[in-house]
Amino acid sequence: MSTLTTSVLGIEFENPFLLASAPPTASIESIDKAFEMGWGGAVLKTITPDNLEMVEASPRYAIMKEKGKVIGLQNIELLSHKSVQYWVDGIKYLKEKHPTKVIIASIMSPIDRSAWHELVRRLNETPVDAYELNFSCPHGMPEKGIGMAIGTTTEISTLITGWVKDIAIKPVFVKLTPNVTDITRIAKAVERANADGFAAINTVQGFMGVNLDTLEPNLNIGGLSTYGGCSGEIVKPIGFRCVAQLRQCSELPILGMGGITNWQDAAQYIALGSDAVQICTEVMINGYGIIDGLKSGLLKYLEEKEMNDISELKNIAISKITTHEKLNKEHHLHPEINKDVCVKCGKCVKICSESEHQALGVNDNKTSICLDKEKCVGCSLCSHVCPKEAIKMCC
Ligand SMILES: Cc1cc2nc3c(=O)[nH]c(=O)nc-3n(C[C@H](O)[C@H](O)[C@H](O)COP(=O)(O)O)c2cc1C
Repeated sequence: MSTLTTSVLGIEFENPFLLASAPPTASIESIDKAFEMGWGGAVLKTITPDNLEMVEASPRYAIMKEKGKVIGLQNIELLSHKSVQYWVDGIKYLKEKHPTKVIIASIMSPIDRSAWHELVRRLNETPVDAYELNFSCPHGMPEKGIGMAIGTTTEISTLITGWVKDIAIKPVFVKLTPNVTDITRIAKAVERANADGFAAINTVQGFMGVNLDTLEPNLNIGGLSTYGGCSGEIVKPIGFRCVAQLRQCSELPILGMGGITNWQDAAQYIALGSDAVQICTEVMINGYGIIDGLKSGLLKYLEEKEMNDISELKNIAISKITTHEKLNKEHHLHPEINKDVCVKCGKCVKICSESEHQALGVNDNKTSICLDKEKCVGCSLCSHVCPKEAIKMCC
């Protein structure tokens, strides 16, 4: 029998699925509901000092859709508008009602030691399980010199991690931004400052485009717009890459996230080094109820793979990722076309001929696709564009 229970830095998780710091964790009432519905834990919407001025814009979201389905979100939302006392009381209430659920306090403050210490001191009085330092919000906050402005410099990230570690009585995760050239540089710096783990990724800085009818930005705040944080399915490859890079540079625990919509995404984040995962956008679009499918799907998968728990899945894909230089250049595949499935639409021939190689063609009586092995470089593009999946890459 497999189990979804897991343990990270001595914190016991009922299951590895946490709500990420965002609107689904912005009130005690809603977190209470999510816990009732089966989530393993929640990272609270980022808590700030009460005197930090934050004025929200409206609207604050734009989306990207494909075939009617939301595949990405751009948001320009700021941080929690609730007071520190609200969260102090709320954490106590939630822990008393749900002692087995994990609660992580996300925090952010101006670059002032006493302000960070005041926040941590107040939260130290609660039964919170860990801290997550938000060094990674890409909009609004960097203009005040915080958020991503912290997480893009090793010096300030190190400084603040050190301040928090000086007095935090619970583990400290640093939430990293993908909006840097090398995420491992910041990760190694905060590890040297004694961070206990990483959370990644926060949103990817982006812009959801222009409405060609109105010629206004899609995220239109009275005729003006701004860059924001993108999340959801469209950022998943960036999240996968960042988590794998973090795992390759450190053994610290990782709370992985970015574009998780189902248990398969979560399992991949774990195979790439995550100790648990967080989800935001999919919950914002489809609600807390997605937890049932996440839990049942991952559990069934572990059972099929005869794994006792996610620790046996964790890191399993990491040894497969190396540098381009170390890839075996003798390895060469070529396409094999399943004639029974191929409808001779010619898409593979067209794409191959328009992308340098001209290895695919149509035979003289136009009844089948043929391959010139000498010309084929084994790139695999033809197999990906085939609308009938009739092409397999073979040795
Ligand atoms: C509307 C919105 C608000 C967010 N607010 C916060 C926040 O307050 N603190 C934080 O650390 N991350 C915040 N995030 C980032 C998410 O926690 C998460 O890192 C990101 O959305 C990627 O995960 P996803 O693709 O599952 O949404 C927010 C994301 C969204 C979409």
